[in-house]
Amino acid sequence: MDIPRLHPDTVEAVKQRVDIVDVISEHVVLRKRGKDFTGLCPFHDDKSPSFSVSPGKQFYYCFSCGAGGNAIKFLMEIGKQSFADVVLELARRYQVPVKTLEPAQRQELQRQLSLREQLYEVLALTAKFYEHALHQTDGHAALTYLTEQRQLNQETIQQFQLGYAPAGWQTLYGYLIEQKRFPVELVEQAGLIVPRSEGRGYYDRFRDRLMIPIHDLQGRVIGFGGRALGNEQPKYLNSPETELFDKGKTLFALDKARAAIAKLDRAVVVEGYFDVIALHAVGITNAVAALGTALSAVQVRQLLRYTESKQIVFNFDADAAGTKATERAIGEVADLAYQGEVQLRILNLPQGKDPDEFLKTHTAAEYQTLLDQAPLWLDWQILQLLAEADLNQADQFQQSSQAIVKLLGNLPNATLRTHYIHRCAELLSQGDARLTLRIEEDLRTQVRGQRWHGRSQKWQRPGDRTLLEESEAQLLRLYLHLPDYRALIKASLEERDLDFSLSHHRTLWQQILNLEQTETAVDLVSRLQDYDAELTESTAAQHQLAAVQPLFQLDEKSQRDLLRAPLVVRTAIASMERVMCEKRRRHFLDLWKQTDDNLTSDLAQYYQQQIYAETQRIEELDRQQRQVTFEDLAQIPWIGEFQEALGLSQP
Ligand code: UTP
Ligand code: MN
Repeated sequence: MDIPRLHPDTVEAVKQRVDIVDVISEHVVLRKRGKDFTGLCPFHDDKSPSFSVSPGKQFYYCFSCGAGGNAIKFLMEIGKQSFADVVLELARRYQVPVKTLEPAQRQELQRQLSLREQLYEVLALTAKFYEHALHQTDGHAALTYLTEQRQLNQETIQQFQLGYAPAGWQTLYGYLIEQKRFPVELVEQAGLIVPRSEGRGYYDRFRDRLMIPIHDLQGRVIGFGGRALGNEQPKYLNSPETELFDKGKTLFALDKARAAIAKLDRAVVVEGYFDVIALHAVGITNAVAALGTALSAVQVRQLLRYTESKQIVFNFDADAAGTKATERAIGEVADLAYQGEVQLRILNLPQGKDPDEFLKTHTAAEYQTLLDQAPLWLDWQILQLLAEADLNQADQFQQSSQAIVKLLGNLPNATLRTHYIHRCAELLSQGDARLTLRIEEDLRTQVRGQRWHGRSQKWQRPGDRTLLEESEAQLLRLYLHLPDYRALIKASLEERDLDFSLSHHRTLWQQILNLEQTETAVDLVSRLQDYDAELTESTAAQHQLAAVQPLFQLDEKSQRDLLRAPLVVRTAIASMERVMCEKRRRHFLDLWKQTDDNLTSDLAQYYQQQIYAETQRIEELDRQQRQVTFEDLAQIPWIGEFQEALGLSQP
């Protein structure tokens, strides 16, 4: 179809109806902050939430990259879609009647809209038909299955509109087409009948099955899952994808669960229809399920809309298939979870039971307790990794620690990284305290290596080395001579994710860390010089130690540095970070120049975003450096005299 020229009334009506939070939260995890919402900007590589959405103004704006506009603009940008396409899609979604300027197009659009209306109607009627059949003689076995095997009461059966598809080949066909006079094509498009492969005619898709309707958020039936009553295959037969039914975008029972998810501030995702039904039946009503497909990122974002603190628990089966499903589902959320945007927990029930089985022998309260105790996903992944390995076998130990390094290397938060490195070292050492320290150090080094620090000299400029030599030396000297500042220096390095980049400084730093781990309150200067002797075999180490010797001494300038330590720390850290940013920027610039924009636009875009982010950070650092305050100046001992001499005084 040509792009229709939409009537201004339609555009206006869509603007009136659309909810910007609704639209954007399908793409961005939003948190409420006062009247507005904030999240990570989808248009640049956002490190902290700079993206803000105002429901009052129906407007979004990114404070970092400047992207902004209304819901239509957002969808155009994010989906690279035309204005007309976006408006049409929104019109469908919010059921706004579409008017165009050309009559022919108007007819076509009306036809499409009314097709959807008719599909809803036929599906609603079918659900009623199945419900009715459940209470007829034919449906007796199915009803018994529900009440006895599944132990469900009438209320739950009604709430979920459970039904029965009779056994004949054309029962539903007879009802919908012969009796109710629905067009065959429509019923086929609803996924309810299937054309015979030979000859003409159609037969019912669902026969002799227990029917579970699937509803959209508005509670309209959009498809069915049909369970075999015995051991027939497949166990579950589902509606095909239709104009209304998109499996990857639908969650079973979200219409019934969303209020509870909002109230309890937590969503539970389980594997099967009956797990959801069993949980709701005992009052745990914040549970939903995917539809026999892997949980998608779209589905996760749908859920996150309803929980303010973004808590999700995956409770999949603990068998091999369930574990795989869990890992795949985690994959969809991992980015968000790593960033701390989602609090993901994983629950595996005892004896590998699914929730439905568990609730047959346990109470809702017991389930609730397990939910509350479910481990965070990273802990779960670590345990999962280690459970598979025999740590006493060198090769398996090696494999496990490498997998852990990979896992932890992705964690952007330094404090969390430190926490998990420690925890993994404990697990890997199996309770041997001395071993723990060694493993912890190894893990730390490897995790650092895994993260890209721009240590390579390739993107360094001649001036950078002098600047780094100077800044790193200042920091190390302060560290050695001013024990009070050690915590600050360590925290600043961790916080900015910085490391010493000159190899002799790195070696010294490593030795400092080693010493600190084995002794408390050490006199670093004298102990490091003893260390000297222990290392005499390695000439490389000797050279490096010779290079750092001046740091152990204090000349006049370095004594002055000691007196204004906070300023020196801040300036040195900023210089180190700035060099790092510059290097990263040049590195990405190089990569970007080598990418063919048209062939790999995603990659090119990613590089551009990185370049932009580094540029921003550099400007930010420069701004900070210019804002040296009077307090900073006051730390410089001679400044007072200097000011007095000039007749200046502090404001
Ligand atoms: P499970 O096989 O784990 O079944 O499928 P279950 O939920 O424990 O089923 P019961 O208790 O034996 O009835 C989990 C989900 O995977 C999809 C369905 O959505 C099901 O709820 N599935 C499973 C299918 O779509 N087709 C199948 O053949 C099996
Ligand atoms: Mn089950």
